[in-house]
Amino acid sequence: MGEAYTVFVCAETPCLSMGSEDVYRAFEAEVKRQGLSNVAVEISGCHGHGLCNHGPSVVVEPEGIFYLGVRPEDVPEIVSAHLRDGRPVERLLYRDPKSGRLIARYHDVDFYRKQCRVILRNCGRINPEKIDHYIAAGGYRALAKALLKMTPEQVIEEIKRSGLRGRGGAGFPTGRKWEFARNVCSPEKFIICNADEGDPGAFMDRSVLEADPHAVIEGLTIGGYAIGATTGFIYVRAEYPLAVKRLRIALDQARAKGFLGKNILGSGFTFDIYLKEGAGAFVCGEETALIASIESQRGMPRPRPPYPAQAGLAGKPTTINNVKTLASVPIIIDRGAAWFAGIGSEKSKGTTVLALSGKIVNAGLVEVPMGTSLSTIIYDIGGGIPDGKRLKAVQTGGPSGGCIPARIPDTPVDFESLAMVGSIMGSGGMVVMDEETCMVEVARYFLSFTQAESCGKCVPCRLGTKQMLEILTRITEGKGQEGDVETLLKIARTVKETSLCGLGQTCPNPVLSTIHYFRDEYEAHIKEKRCPASNWERLPLKSRRGVRAPR
Ligand SMILES: Cc1cc2nc3c(=O)[nH]c(=O)nc-3n(C[C@H](O)[C@H](O)[C@H](O)COP(=O)(O)O)c2cc1C
Repeated sequence: MGEAYTVFVCAETPCLSMGSEDVYRAFEAEVKRQGLSNVAVEISGCHGHGLCNHGPSVVVEPEGIFYLGVRPEDVPEIVSAHLRDGRPVERLLYRDPKSGRLIARYHDVDFYRKQCRVILRNCGRINPEKIDHYIAAGGYRALAKALLKMTPEQVIEEIKRSGLRGRGGAGFPTGRKWEFARNVCSPEKFIICNADEGDPGAFMDRSVLEADPHAVIEGLTIGGYAIGATTGFIYVRAEYPLAVKRLRIALDQARAKGFLGKNILGSGFTFDIYLKEGAGAFVCGEETALIASIESQRGMPRPRPPYPAQAGLAGKPTTINNVKTLASVPIIIDRGAAWFAGIGSEKSKGTTVLALSGKIVNAGLVEVPMGTSLSTIIYDIGGGIPDGKRLKAVQTGGPSGGCIPARIPDTPVDFESLAMVGSIMGSGGMVVMDEETCMVEVARYFLSFTQAESCGKCVPCRLGTKQMLEILTRITEGKGQEGDVETLLKIARTVKETSLCGLGQTCPNPVLSTIHYFRDEYEAHIKEKRCPASNWERLPLKSRRGVRAPR
């Protein structure tokens, strides 16, 4: 018998929808039928994110041999040729689209080579439904270290020194947030994991929850210890049923192993975590709306102060952190603040997970050190723009973000640099646009999202998003009027300054940045009734669904 193999069959949402469950069962049956005692068959989260449209994918460890498009009928050949005889099945390996070369190991695929997996460290490498896999990968070591060898203050100090900043959008330093919470005197405090992920096209948090739920549970428990919380919540949108299922399994397993509950690991610290499923409203990602939703009220924001850190859930001090922020915590405690601070740029430490989409050859989740340039992400990792077209702009930060024109391709992707060019990191959305993308349509698209998601509580957001959307729609339909751009700017600035919560305060950003960098395109639509980005001569030609009009 040769070396021991583990076959990881991807069981994340896209591969499952392509039949990976049948592939998993076929492996189990075939390995048994051929009597291979040195092969384990496991499900996993996504192996690489990026080639999901070629699934179901299978990785054979420890070699890291990567198969794509595996069907149950391919399984007997993989088992006999590869797992029994040691000869990987070539026809199912990844083929580099540029060179046509077959690439057997997924670490050697261009899309993955320049990435740096910290938050996604276990994705695709462990079975998310088995706590022992997580423990074997070093999981819960940080919790033991924090509870048994460190005081809460030392944990906070370590997180502060690591430079970790919140990955939910605003980038607030996590250590400072925890310090405020620790210093509030209250017999009862809460810590919440914000897994509401609502940006269009974003699926970073879902992937972490589906592939590595224990990392989030461990991070939340360490956070609870640091701030002195008694209870944790994970607020996860109900549209993520697989994430919910895996979290439930993981929570039960963590309790059974004594990582949650009374007197955790004999440390005297008692803490448990509850799941709350949200109904999928974007605004419920805002902290005060999220708290209202957990309290079974309508998910609407309220004015701050008081901040959740002073009076949050049930009026008690409450800390809220994003999924990726919390998944970063165990590895920081385990490997030390200096290790983490050694990754990234001067003021933005660690890595960022981006959902790369749009006009790009390799779309998918990309994890890179903070400060990596846009051009590295788009060309070296993303494989460039398809069909020989030119890059026009990149939209970062989702509906709260802005568009960066192609003439500044070396912009580093970190909190400061993106803010300097009028955009934001946000939670990690990155939409690549080619020369045929209409920038007015881009602004209209994002506004249509925020207008639909505005909770309507405050007037500027409720009416402002509607007015902006009406004007943008008119312009894209060739009915724009003289003065529309000025009106848009005026409304956008008012909505930004006067809205109650972050939704209204940031939703004008796609409008403002497209006007700033592509004003001539707005003018062409209004004055010449023409969209310069397309070959079409007159508007309305571009369908709002992005379908090209017939020539
Ligand atoms: C409209 C709106 C939606 C938001 N959605 C999310 C979300 O889905 N996930 C998230 O972590 N943060 C979201 N945020 C940011 C959170 O309110 C909060 O700042 C964040 O969870 C804090 O965690 P962090 O410090 O770890 O980033 C949203 C904010 C606003 C204004």
